[in-house]
Amino acid sequence: DGYDLHICCMGAGYVGGPTMAVIAANCPKIRVCVVDLSKKIIDAWNSPDLPIYEPGLMEVVEKSRGKNLFFSTDIDAEIKKADIIFISVNTPTKTVGIGAGRAANVKNCELCARKIAEVSEGSKIVVEKSTVPVRTAEAVRRVLDCNEKGLKFQVLSNPEFLAEGTAIPDLMKPDRVLIGGVQSPEGLAAAEALVSVYANWVPREQILTTNLWSSELAKLVANAFLAQRVSSINSISALCEATGANVSEITRAVGMDNRIGKRFLNSSIGFGGSCFQKDILNLVYLCETYGLRECAEYWNQVIVMNDYQKKRFSEKMVSTLFNTVTGKKIAILGFAFKKDTGDVRETPSMFVVRDLVHEQAKVHVYDPQVKREDMWTEMDYTCKMSVANYPGLEEAVTTAPDAYAACDGAHALAVLTEWDEFKELDYERIYKSMAKPAFVFDGRNILDHDALRKIGFEVHAIGKPDPNKFSDL
Ligand code: NAD
Ligand code: UDX
Repeated sequence: DGYDLHICCMGAGYVGGPTMAVIAANCPKIRVCVVDLSKKIIDAWNSPDLPIYEPGLMEVVEKSRGKNLFFSTDIDAEIKKADIIFISVNTPTKTVGIGAGRAANVKNCELCARKIAEVSEGSKIVVEKSTVPVRTAEAVRRVLDCNEKGLKFQVLSNPEFLAEGTAIPDLMKPDRVLIGGVQSPEGLAAAEALVSVYANWVPREQILTTNLWSSELAKLVANAFLAQRVSSINSISALCEATGANVSEITRAVGMDNRIGKRFLNSSIGFGGSCFQKDILNLVYLCETYGLRECAEYWNQVIVMNDYQKKRFSEKMVSTLFNTVTGKKIAILGFAFKKDTGDVRETPSMFVVRDLVHEQAKVHVYDPQVKREDMWTEMDYTCKMSVANYPGLEEAVTTAPDAYAACDGAHALAVLTEWDEFKELDYERIYKSMAKPAFVFDGRNILDHDALRKIGFEVHAIGKPDPNKFSDL
């Protein structure tokens, strides 16, 4: 059919969709097809209204869709055609059974392997793209080997390091691509085949090849290190608020040490997203499984600190508002877990909303990308709070059409996602429309606090000294 190679990707989510779109855009001779069980998601990928919001994604998809990039629900047919199959399905934290609340559920990966073994008519390379516990490739390999057709499969690990909101630049210019494989002639040949795909746009020296287990584990370690930086600086933000030091000045002073580095040290209301907590819990569970109690406790502390930071923020809001928010309108600016995404999985904003609803506040949420139904789905999944089981929830949380509507008549506004547009709002207008005293809680440290104080706001930010409490010598 004129193509040099056929790639199939199982799972058309935040990773599968953008990753395959970038492969297709960079490799016109490779036919790439992304398949999913969900017809709704596949239909959206085939429409002008993509299922996820990601800057630059539409342009990349449009470049190849219908030429060498396809989205389909015909999983069997696409598996049969493929030389390389990526497994890019969700691997969430288990909610029930052994390891519930910590271990990653690899059920979807196993189901993919079973499907591949069942329908394949020739040998293939199977690539774990999903983030999985170390040694999952062994299970995948054993399931694949159980085919009755004498087919031989090679299993590779190729974890994904993209971050949401910057997925396209991350994929176009990755810091590195990691490929783990069995250290046999066949395994090395399979790894080389995948290296050749990436080498179409990634410099060879940035494509690392390792053994399978290092590759699987490196993904968990990378996320644990990143999240640890956020928890470390967040722990210091609490100390700054108690002492009059300024966390931004600490970050600058500490980050200018090249060994530490400037990036990923922004204190916040805590990290969210589908990966950090899940992957650290996964690492903690692995350590426990191998009897490494001290190692498990060490990494678990990153999560303990994050929970503390989220709780600390909502408690500060309530105590500042004279110890009661009952019946008060509170504006929440931002519900996504970070800017430039509509993703709300594990978003810290949700925990603040939950706490405020428990305190009987009237919460008005504005986010430029988050749909009300997605907010409910995540609140139900993670906080077990739904319109059905929590009387009054529907009325307690309003989704506002814009920031001004959210703030109109509010006692406080809280910035919980660092969307750029929140920096550009007309705060004079907002101040006039709010109840007085008008409080600002900047959970991302993105606003100009001095300017807001001049307008008349009482401003509280993360790790910033309260000017009424501390003065210079
Ligand atoms: P997602 O939930 O957005 O997408 C997963 C998709 O897989 C869903 O659309 C689901 O319908 C589909 N699926 C599940 N089982 C299937 C099956 N048996 N056959 C076909 N399709 C199936 O998940 P995601 O955010 O894309 O994450 C996928 C994996 O990548 C996870 O392991 C995650 O940890 C990892 N990862 C995610 C990110 C991120 O930023 N989201 C970054 C790096 C790695
Ligand atoms: C993360 C990893 O960065 C990525 O490499 C991996 O593939 C998937 O997990 P993601 O969760 O999409 O990506 O976003 P990231 O930019 O890492 O942010 C995660 C959370 O940490 C967000 O809630 C963000 O607001 C928060 N964060 C990040 C901070 O609070 N401070 C920082 O300095 C950086």
